[in-house]
Amino acid sequence: MMSGAAVIPGTGNYITVSEVSKIYRNGTADAVEAVSSVSFEVKKGEFVAILGPSGCGKSTLMMMVGGLEKATSGAISVAGTAMTGPRTDIGIMFQDATLLPWKSAVENVLFPVRVLKRPIDTYWDAAHALLDKVGLNGFAGKKPHELSGGMRQRVAICRTLVYEPELLLMDEPFSALDAITRDEMNELLLDLWQQYTKTALFVTHSIREAVLLADRVLVMTRRPATIVEDLTMPFARPRTPAIGDSREFNEICAHLRRRIEHSHFGERHGSAAALAPAEAAE
Ligand SMILES: Nc1ncnc2c1ncn2[C@@H]1O[C@H](COP(=O)(O)OP(=O)(O)OP(=O)(O)O)[C@@H](O)[C@H]1O
Ligand SMILES: [Mg+2]
Repeated sequence: MMSGAAVIPGTGNYITVSEVSKIYRNGTADAVEAVSSVSFEVKKGEFVAILGPSGCGKSTLMMMVGGLEKATSGAISVAGTAMTGPRTDIGIMFQDATLLPWKSAVENVLFPVRVLKRPIDTYWDAAHALLDKVGLNGFAGKKPHELSGGMRQRVAICRTLVYEPELLLMDEPFSALDAITRDEMNELLLDLWQQYTKTALFVTHSIREAVLLADRVLVMTRRPATIVEDLTMPFARPRTPAIGDSREFNEICAHLRRRIEHSHFGERHGSAAALAPAEAAE
């Protein structure tokens, strides 16, 4: 079933998703097919963005790659090992990243270290360095309610990075932010990414965000989700958000938008409407 099981570091596929489907069964009555026979591969060090309308199964796919949900059929491997449950080499940033309200920013950043029962002292400096890097020096001792929404997201990014997971799974990490803060977060993530160069899967509704950040963009269709486009971005790194002004960038965005619209043509919910709120926020 699984292709490319043996992985040589630096080459080959790092993530292999092979004909994966997910059917949610709530009792016997209403089964929901959230993901339908999805296959794709990600190389080590690659940043892959997944675009798709709301409810098409993106979070479900991310949960399966992160070992938090079981696939109904098909196989997923990361770093040559089949996913059977959560793993410490995978860091996940969820759609609604919540911090522990009674803990300070730095304690929140160190939370995964505590969960993994690793020595806090070893990661203390790294946690502070990360907070500095995201512009939160001086805020390490603040509680979440003393921070803005954008600051809380930055703490959440630091929390995902603190124990240096090899794979980052980010599920619409910036969707709750206003457009300007979101642009700032994109720039920050671009910088962090270029320093850490981990492998990443990044789910978003925003075409521009995907094209700016990713090496490859996958387009998923409406439920049951399948992948209808796998496009390699032609932009060299390091990148800056200024590439968003280029003609090539905008042509790629237009192509992806058409691709998404085309893939939904004739379907019940339509497509432009499905992407409109997120696009309008850009
Ligand atoms: N635990 C669950 N039990 C039953 N159905 C579920 C469950 N989780 C998700 N679903 C259904 O599976 C489908 C895909 O949901 P999912 O959350 O993966 O979509 P999504 O693409 O992440 O959407 P969004 O962009 O709004 O976050 C939806 O129809 C949803 O109702
Ligand atoms: Mg989701």
